[in-house]
Parts: sequence; structure tokens; C-alpha cells
Amino acid sequence: MLEVRGLEAGYGSLKVLRGISFSVPTGKVVALLGGNGAGKTTTMAALTGIVRPTAGTVTLDGEALQNQPSYRILRKGIALVPQGRQLFPEMSVLENLETGAFVRGRRGAELEADLAQVFERFPRLKERATQRAGSLSGGEQQMLATGRALMARPQLLLMDEPTTGLAPIIVQELTRIIRDLHRAGQTIVLVEQNVRMALQVADHVYVIRGGQIVQEASADSIRDDEEMFRAYLG
Ligand SMILES: Nc1ncnc2c1ncn2[C@@H]1O[C@H](COP(=O)(O)OP(=O)(O)OP(=O)(O)O)[C@@H](O)[C@H]1O
Ligand SMILES: [Mg+2]
Repeated sequence: MLEVRGLEAGYGSLKVLRGISFSVPTGKVVALLGGNGAGKTTTMAALTGIVRPTAGTVTLDGEALQNQPSYRILRKGIALVPQGRQLFPEMSVLENLETGAFVRGRRGAELEADLAQVFERFPRLKERATQRAGSLSGGEQQMLATGRALMARPQLLLMDEPTTGLAPIIVQELTRIIRDLHRAGQTIVLVEQNVRMALQVADHVYVIRGGQIVQEASADSIRDDEEMFRAYLG
């Protein structure tokens, strides 16, 4: 269970997050929706220690994370699939996946077992294991960024706008993958601007605007009245 309470963060004198609170129960998928500049990526950065929160608390299964350095937070089991994927373009698919396992210090047979699992989930990555990551299609790169995060065996998977720039059929594939992860018990925070996609996979939805949560609801309750909900996104 992730609990975020009154989270504030920014860049220098620029205050971006102005008291963000939300909960992610274990095994659930929670979507954070919001327009450009709402503070979604900054929230991900604050959760992972990339940006240091100036106020508020982040607890994972009761343990406070808000003052811990990034590497510790990763080791506690939070993995981020960053916006824009942030792969190592000159490294191979396999090497990119191995960097995901590094944080847990897994090697040898354990590493092989984790790789086999990721390749099972993403067969196309297996076919392209030796290919340069930078030469993959956008969809394949997103699969690789997701696979890399899964190599850390995260308790909590954060995904920042995974569908951006992808063709509808690839978005569908990604939707199916997130559903499969959900079914396997993976706890996920999904940041999206694609409301329809988010509603297909999320249990609960929060809307962030101007660095604050302005709306929250169960995905079930919104599905019936999506248009009204869309208005909240501005
Ligand atoms: N490194 C940075 N330095 C200074 N300001 C930043 C930095 N990163 C983001 N900001 C500012 O913080 C605000 C929130 O940005 P953030 O990236 O969190 O938005 P977002 O909701 O993720 O938007 P998008 O959907 O476009 O990715 C914006 O006004 C942005 O200009
Ligand atoms: Mg962003």
C-alpha cells in the first residue's frame, strides 16, 4: 500500500506540487490523470526521490520514503517507467533489461529467470534481444522500458504516460499488458492523458491540476459518465 499525504515539491523557487494526497492499495491500479504541466511527472519524481519533497509524506507499506535517496527508494521496490522511455539507445535490448535488474543485485540464474519472464511477457523483445534499443519502434521501446522496470521486481510500478505517441493498436496491446500485470497482482500507478485507456485498466482515478488533486472517483463510477469526467481535465 502506497500512501501519499500532503506532498509538496518543485524546482528551485518554483512550487509545482501543492499538497498531493492519494492512496494505492496493494494489487490495485490507480490512474493519475491531468493535462500538460499539471504536475504528474513531478509527482513521479517526488515519489522516486528524483526531486526532493519539501513537505508531506510518502509511505510504502508503512515505511516513510520521502527523505530517502533515489537508490534506496528503488531498492524498497518502486520502479519507474519514465515519460519518454529514457532508454540507453546505444545499448542492446538485453543490456537495457539488465540495467533494470542492477538495483536488486540479481545475477546468474536469478537474472536469467527474470529475463525469461520478461521475454515471455514481451516476445518481441526476445526476438530483438541483440538489437540496439534506439532502433526499436516506439511501441517496442515502450515495451522495453516497461520490461526494464519489471526486471527490478517492483512492489509498485509507476508508469508515466506510456501511450504517448503510439498507434491505437499498440495502445491496445499496452492496455492488455497492464491488465495482465494487474491480474498477476502488480500494484501500479498509471499517469495518463488518454482517459479512455486509463479507465480500461484502473480501479481508481485521481485528477491532478495545478499541482493539486481536484477530483477522485472509482473507475466504475466514471465509465458511465465519461464526458462529464473529461470536463474536469480541462
Ligand atoms: N526540471 C524542471 N525545472 C523547472 N521546472 C520544471 C521542471 N520540470 C517540470 N517543470 C515545471 O513543472 C510544472 C509541472 O511539470 P510536470 O512535468 O510535472 O507536468 P506533467 O503533468 O507531467 O505534464 P505533461 O503531461 O506535459 O508531461 C510545469 O510548469 C513545468 O514547466
Ligand atoms: Mg509529464
